[in-house]
Amino acid sequence: MTGFEPGERVLLLDDRGRRYLITLQQGQSYHFHRGIVAHDLLIGQPEGVTVRTTSGAAVIALRPTFAEFVLKMKRGAQVVYPKDLAMILLHGDVYPGANVLEAGAGSGALTMALLRAVGPEGRVVTYELREDFAALARANVEAFLGKAENLEIKMGSVYEPVEETDIDRIVLDVPEPWRALEGAGAALRPGGVFVAYLPTVLQVHSLVEALHGDPSWTLVSSFEALVRPWHVEGRSVRPEHRMVAHTGFITTARKILAPKFLPGRADRPIMPEDPPIL
Ligand SMILES: C[S@@+](CC[C@H](N)C(=O)[O-])C[C@H]1O[C@@H](n2cnc3c(N)ncnc32)[C@H](O)[C@@H]1O
Repeated sequence: MTGFEPGERVLLLDDRGRRYLITLQQGQSYHFHRGIVAHDLLIGQPEGVTVRTTSGAAVIALRPTFAEFVLKMKRGAQVVYPKDLAMILLHGDVYPGANVLEAGAGSGALTMALLRAVGPEGRVVTYELREDFAALARANVEAFLGKAENLEIKMGSVYEPVEETDIDRIVLDVPEPWRALEGAGAALRPGGVFVAYLPTVLQVHSLVEALHGDPSWTLVSSFEALVRPWHVEGRSVRPEHRMVAHTGFITTARKILAPKFLPGRADRPIMPEDPPIL
């Protein structure tokens, strides 16, 4: 790996464990309560280097991980937290090469996670209502991933019918995802995975009722991810006093070919000539 370059984002870690995200620029300095760090001290240095501020405090410089970048990047809409991003990617089974439909782009945190998971062979199309959020999402994506040729941000509502077809995965962070089931949901291929991220149980309830009421969906599952960090220092080994207690609930479902039989009565076809379910 080469040394830090001008224009690069660098995470500074002070001697109290606080993190600061800066963009390196020749001749510039970063001022904070532990002193001043000249960017030129860092440019050309390898990742992991420790430098001193003008006040003598030690500062470690690292390239930010994706989780660190998401928590420090510029936000418009509330971002999906790293603990939930991880769960969405795994339970949504977002794989390299997948064709993903997302909404809304918001600040772009989930978009970035999806782009990293699908890789260069995959594609992410994300719908967003607000021009300012679309621009911020694009800027955040490009700041971390560079030009993403396989990302398309479309202005419009995901509740309207979509142009895309044969989608592998749908990932929604919008207030009323049940309104997307008939349009975007119909564009999901059989076997595809639908994921929605919602902040309240009332929204989860509406979504799950809608999924249960439509025979094109199965394996409907809702859960939340609680991550409890631990304090480990000497003989003081215990949970931290604080944690992120609530962010959102994740609901997943699988798309199927709507059965020709009454649900739960697979032995009794609606139409006698219908073939049996295999
Ligand atoms: C909570 S934010 C998404 C944050 C994003 N997942 C992130 O991690 O940065 C919700 C976004 O959905 C957008 N939105 C709301 N309703 C929508 C709809 N019907 N179609 C597309 N986008 C929508 C909002 O403008 C907002 O940007």
